[in-house]
Amino acid sequence: MSSILDNRPELRREVEQVAEAAGYLWQKGWAERNGGNITVNVTDAVDDEIRSMLPIGQPVAIGVTLPNLKGCYFYCKGTNRRMRDLARWPMENGSIIRITDDCAHYEIIADAPVKPTSELPSHLSVHNYLIGKGSNYKASLHTHPIELVAMSHNPEFLKKDVLTNLLWSMIPETKAFCPRGLGIVPYMLPSSVELADATIAALADDYDVVMWEKHGVFAVGPDIMEAFDMVDTLTKSAIIYRDARAMGFDPTGMSQEQMKEISTVFKLPK
Ligand code: 13P
Ligand code: ZN
Repeated sequence: MSSILDNRPELRREVEQVAEAAGYLWQKGWAERNGGNITVNVTDAVDDEIRSMLPIGQPVAIGVTLPNLKGCYFYCKGTNRRMRDLARWPMENGSIIRITDDCAHYEIIADAPVKPTSELPSHLSVHNYLIGKGSNYKASLHTHPIELVAMSHNPEFLKKDVLTNLLWSMIPETKAFCPRGLGIVPYMLPSSVELADATIAALADDYDVVMWEKHGVFAVGPDIMEAFDMVDTLTKSAIIYRDARAMGFDPTGMSQEQMKEISTVFKLPK
């Protein structure tokens, strides 16, 4: 079967990177059933032939109007599709969509009529926000990391930057490679526009990763691997914390001075 990826190495590379990340999400145990979703802004890899491709089916309302997305293209995981399947067959478990000129609808252009993720309002609102602020970030990842979600069941950890500081203090790499920390979004209905708005507000508060209370995390990055790595790093800290507690003690954590030193040496924003 022919694919939009044929003879388009740049676009193929983008989609293959998503497939690789999807495999990691499954291996980590973060992607039960259809859990989690990925979207990547692939507009830079789109040529004139793609721009003139007829859509598969009718335009579908996004539920929000997103003025910065006019004519943009995204690879999206399909709703109800499994990450472990996407890892092997990305164009059968995801699709490439085009945002229509009214900025309020999308149309699927390739390869098959795979309906995008139910979290599309959050993903596309975030891409709209990122473009609006001139960011080079192209990838959005939502996933269900076990230990981080478990921590979100403790109200103490939902206070601003309590979890950020705890996770940073477990191992120096976490502050170095997730230097903006972990924002918190209170529980909201999955796939709702309210959740999308709250996610943008949290990202705008200067985070690259935010926790959706009792649900999962939402991360943004220049590409899907960078977004994955930040979630992986934060989760590593959560596991160290859990393991120390399981061994029967409260981990001391790095001191404030030690964390300040990391910020100075790595020239970090916080
Ligand atoms: P989708 O299968 O629609 O992507 O939903 C998975 C999910 O994690 C919803 O929050
Ligand atoms: Zn989810």
